[in-house]
Amino acid sequence: MSTSLSRGPYPHTRMRRLRAQDFSRRLSREHLLTVDDLILPLFVIEGRGETQRVASMPGVERLSVDLLAAKARELVALGIPAVALFPVVDPAQKSEDARAAYDRDGLAQRAVRALKEAEPELGVITDVALDPFTSHGQDGLMDKNGYIVNDDTVEVLARQALSHAEAGADIVAPSDMMDGRIGAIRAALEQNGWVNTMIMSYAAKYASAYYGPFRDAVGSAGNLKGGSKASYQMDPANGDEALHECALDLAEGADMIMVKPGMPYLDVVSRVKRELQVPTFAYQVSGEYAMHCAAFDNGWLAREAVILESLLAFKRAGADGILTYFAEEAARLLQR
Ligand code: PBG
Repeated sequence: MSTSLSRGPYPHTRMRRLRAQDFSRRLSREHLLTVDDLILPLFVIEGRGETQRVASMPGVERLSVDLLAAKARELVALGIPAVALFPVVDPAQKSEDARAAYDRDGLAQRAVRALKEAEPELGVITDVALDPFTSHGQDGLMDKNGYIVNDDTVEVLARQALSHAEAGADIVAPSDMMDGRIGAIRAALEQNGWVNTMIMSYAAKYASAYYGPFRDAVGSAGNLKGGSKASYQMDPANGDEALHECALDLAEGADMIMVKPGMPYLDVVSRVKRELQVPTFAYQVSGEYAMHCAAFDNGWLAREAVILESLLAFKRAGADGILTYFAEEAARLLQR
């Protein structure tokens, strides 16, 4: 009798008990991916009825402004809360001073209007950075030594952000990594009555080689002078610095912060969320998308399961939302 109460040759704790049935797996599940977590990046081009494939991003299409209304309706029907817009600017529009960035009738500004007119409830996020508009493809203005100057760039960024707000953008998202730009943009928005326009700061944006396909998509790869953005984007070796960046941007008035790239930087997402406890987003960037697609297309990875697993990992790390080129496909998978 005492033998039946003694500690036998079995494990004291059986972790597998909860895993044995679907109901208990569901009850004990810690994180959930839903359509509410998804933001779709959209590349927009000039022209009418025009779609263009992006070679290094299979399945991604650039759309002309007139096609955005139909796209917006599809996304709202899927339940996707927001899009992040990226204009693909004609080379003739690019200049040293990036003046096309704040043109009230520029491509990004027209795209915002088209989306908000078609579907006011779809959140529109705009990219605040000068790389689509500079002749050299850098995110800011360049001095004669090739250095990206900070404070003059910030002035242009504030004008750009204001022009996005005027066009109807709900969220402006500075992705340029200049110092002090959040404060300058917040001030410009406040002074002009855009008190409820949100700022999602790309606060911890790394100088990453994973952006390659994006630079193809927006056509800034070929003209990127200097090659590197390391004088303003973060060194991939640094983690503490990401917290410093995020704290500064929050103090300057950011409503939400972003970590980018995503999967290789989930440790950063996790630290930011735990230590700062603010709305935290992450960007599964173009290179992450491209490498997944390459494996899917070769039959090396199971497409649907891996897409959902990759996005769930962001939730587990603490992200409140994910910018992903898989947003539409994931939304459809989640409906099942
Ligand atoms: C540019 C910008 C980049 C991305 C978003 N905004 C590229 C860069 O910094 O060179 C990358 C997004 C992606 O790779 O999907 N301001």
